[in-house]
Amino acid sequence: RPSPLVDPFGRAITYLRISVTDRCDFRCSYCMAENMQFLPKRDLLSLEELDRLCNVFVERGVRKLRITGGEPLVRRDIMQLFRRLSRHLDSGALDELTLTTNGSQLGRFAPELADLGIRRVNVSLDTLDADKFKDITRRGDLPTVLAGIEAARKAGIKVKINAVALKGLNEHEIPDMIRWAHGLGMDMTLIEVMPLGEIDGDRTDQFLPLSVAREHLEEQFTLTPLAHRTGGPARYVKIEETGGRLGFITPLTHNFCEGCNRVRLTCTGQLYLCLGQEDSADLRAPLRASEDDELLRQAVIDAIARKPKGHDFVIERARPAAVPRHMSVTGG
Ligand code: GTP
Ligand code: 5AD
Ligand code: SF4
Repeated sequence: RPSPLVDPFGRAITYLRISVTDRCDFRCSYCMAENMQFLPKRDLLSLEELDRLCNVFVERGVRKLRITGGEPLVRRDIMQLFRRLSRHLDSGALDELTLTTNGSQLGRFAPELADLGIRRVNVSLDTLDADKFKDITRRGDLPTVLAGIEAARKAGIKVKINAVALKGLNEHEIPDMIRWAHGLGMDMTLIEVMPLGEIDGDRTDQFLPLSVAREHLEEQFTLTPLAHRTGGPARYVKIEETGGRLGFITPLTHNFCEGCNRVRLTCTGQLYLCLGQEDSADLRAPLRASEDDELLRQAVIDAIARKPKGHDFVIERARPAAVPRHMSVTGG
């Protein structure tokens, strides 16, 4: 195995997240404004270029790739990228190739994803109430997403449900969502809303600290902390009553950056070293400068040497966005 990339804080970078498009068929109110300006399509790297970039990371010891967006499955011909990347599963160079999706296109793509070796998928779903789903996503259709989840499960893909905890919106529904997810054998993760990118409202009104959500859950459930790690920021508990796993992703109330193992590539070839910091490295120029990967390899090494210690998110009125870029640029 190649020696992994190690950052200045001794963290091995074994996980690359790739946002293949900043576009999405939904407009979740905590993520996007109603009127979003997306990148012109000519600015996107081609799928071949994204594959070449991923290859350089895999050669340097990255063991997990996650395709994100925006909504990754709305990028045209996206399955071509999955087909190419799946060769790293076949060769044993990768432990996991996976994606985070809103589920709207899973009905269509789940069978081929399963064939290519995708074993798990994270589906973002914040409510099981069709009207609330419309309120939150503005454009989404709940039955389509539920059918997408079913299609993935039928294809043998393990689904994890990601729900952003939203004050007064899905707050009181969280126990029911847990029962539903666990009843179907799916893990679930709760996420604190993060101040990324301008939205129409104020995130102070949306932010629900997971410490509060957890106290409410403890009134009905027995939560037993688990050692289970996916290499991600979530801390897991077992819910004794359902037998299922629940994760907490708490960037605001409990920082987890010391264990960070990841960097993020955008669809234009910028490498973001932290979700909560602006610093990025341009990989497009070295990618396009030469057919040979040598410049690119060096650019990756130089970038990792700049990885910051962590984010410093706060949610405050009149400080709407800690970083101007939306989550959809770097894919969470
Ligand atoms: P697993 O492989 O299932 O552990 O998934 P993951 O947590 O790596 O990926 P997922 O796309 O499910 O991430 C869930 C959410 O966690 C992301 O969309 C982000 O909102 C948040 N998240 C993931 N990584 C980081 C991180 O490094 N920093 C912060 N602040 N949030 C993160
Ligand atoms: N804060 C927290 N989570 C967010 N997501 C999108 N925007 C935000 C935000 N500002 C979530 C989505 C999805 C994942 C990719 O990121 O709901 O689960
Ligand atoms: Fe789209 Fe995900 Fe953002 Fe919702 S949270 S608008 S589904 S990228």
